[in-house]
Amino acid sequence: MDFPTARSAVLDVLRGVRAIDLPRLLRWMRTTNDFDDFTLNNNDVVFRSIAEDLRHCLPIEAMLNSEHQAIEKMHQHPEPTVHVDAFLYDEDTIDSLCEEGEMSRYYCVTCGSHQTAPLEFISHSFSLMELKFLYQHVLPDLTGKVLVDVGSRLGAVLFGGCLYSSASQLHGVEMNADFCRLQEMIITKYHFADRVKVLHADICTQALLLQTADVVVMNNVFEYFLDRLEQTRAWEFISQNVRKKGSLLVTVPSLEESLSSLQIGIQLSQWAEELQVDYDVYLEKDVDKEALEQIHLYKIL
Ligand SMILES: C[S@@+](CC[C@H](N)C(=O)[O-])C[C@H]1O[C@@H](n2cnc3c(N)ncnc32)[C@H](O)[C@@H]1O
Repeated sequence: MDFPTARSAVLDVLRGVRAIDLPRLLRWMRTTNDFDDFTLNNNDVVFRSIAEDLRHCLPIEAMLNSEHQAIEKMHQHPEPTVHVDAFLYDEDTIDSLCEEGEMSRYYCVTCGSHQTAPLEFISHSFSLMELKFLYQHVLPDLTGKVLVDVGSRLGAVLFGGCLYSSASQLHGVEMNADFCRLQEMIITKYHFADRVKVLHADICTQALLLQTADVVVMNNVFEYFLDRLEQTRAWEFISQNVRKKGSLLVTVPSLEESLSSLQIGIQLSQWAEELQVDYDVYLEKDVDKEALEQIHLYKIL
């Protein structure tokens, strides 16, 4: 069957469904995994291929010398920490690198001894699992919607949105020019330009974009990259401009946690209402539920 025939067959099926059953069928079509074999596998292959392309362009910790503030902040971290970008390196890739001696999950407690302790891993991107959870289980159908990723870095949220959602426009705003160039490279190579746009800018210059977005994503945006005063200023700007009634805000960690350590006068209860997220959708044992539980969803009031 060619595409026009298949499309019209699907529409015929939908037209033939009893009105009372149509919402249930449409919901099933939006949320089921039954189509995985037809769609997701190819999307997963594309997603992994993007990660591989980016791995070749970056050092293993996926941090750049141009990220002065982030590097300085990392050195102040009390626990021995490594940066492992969860978009670029999935668990299997990390295991292979550990076997090859290029990466370690442990550090030596007493130098020269065999006593070791687990290293703390920090990722500055969402993993594939988190992105699928976000687009397939946290957010509603995004057909015709505009999504803005604040601090888009390597573009995981944007490319994930292209592959796993039907959002019509995915805008990334990133203050680091080197990361913007990498995202542009992927947009061109994978022909994403009709849906994905990346802007090299400080989010605090993008009032209009935030005011018109249907969904705003903020994954650990400011904490590791801005000093406290800049973080306060940025959150105030976000709360003044993410104001479209009914629009959605996704944050990691929760708004309460992000704002609690800052001297900030945002009236949370008047700005946004937290919506329930089902963190138990995956039954598999190897799902990192702790990571999923960091993802919070809010509706703007
Ligand atoms: C933790 S990363 C988020 C990556 C990506 N959104 C994801 O979820 O995979 C945060 C990014 O935000 C960027 N950033 C921090 N403050 C910003 C600001 N005021 N304007 C634009 N980008 C900013 C940083 O350069 C960093 O690349």
